[in-house]
Amino acid sequence: MTERTFVMVKPDGVQRGLIGEIIARFEDRGLKLVGAKLMRIDQALAEEHYAEHTDKPFFEDLTDFITSGPVLAMVWEGQDAIAQVRTMMGATDPAESAPGTIRGDFGLDMGRNVIHGSDTEPGSAEREIELFFDEEELEDYERID
Ligand code: CMP
Repeated sequence: MTERTFVMVKPDGVQRGLIGEIIARFEDRGLKLVGAKLMRIDQALAEEHYAEHTDKPFFEDLTDFITSGPVLAMVWEGQDAIAQVRTMMGATDPAESAPGTIRGDFGLDMGRNVIHGSDTEPGSAEREIELFFDEEELEDYERID
């Protein structure tokens, strides 16, 4: 099924110059970039984006980190895009993510794990895309391979 997913290069990935590498991986895989912006997440957006983690002990560290520098927010489209991106990202904890995955190759720890991608819960990707993008910021075009 063709679908869209929300992907974000976190502040550590932006600061370490990993944007190009990450975009290249998704492009090479055949996914289509339909939206992108370099932006600063404010406290309110951080709390809304990570609302499911409000009660977790790491919540404050998480929101402090994600607001600490610019992120690259993106929307990628393709066949089973949500699951594909999750496979390519690797496990949340870089210590457990396989070599060849983005976090397995570049992640440092649970917080500085370079990238976020929507989970596979129904509605998660749509919710995150709507949180970060207006519909007119998303492009529709044909990808030629
Ligand atoms: P992400 O995919 O952005 O979604 C939630 C984030 O919480 C996750 O990546 C991790 O960066 C972070 N996270 C999850 N568990 C922990 C933890 N135990 N300590 C610190 N950060 C965590």
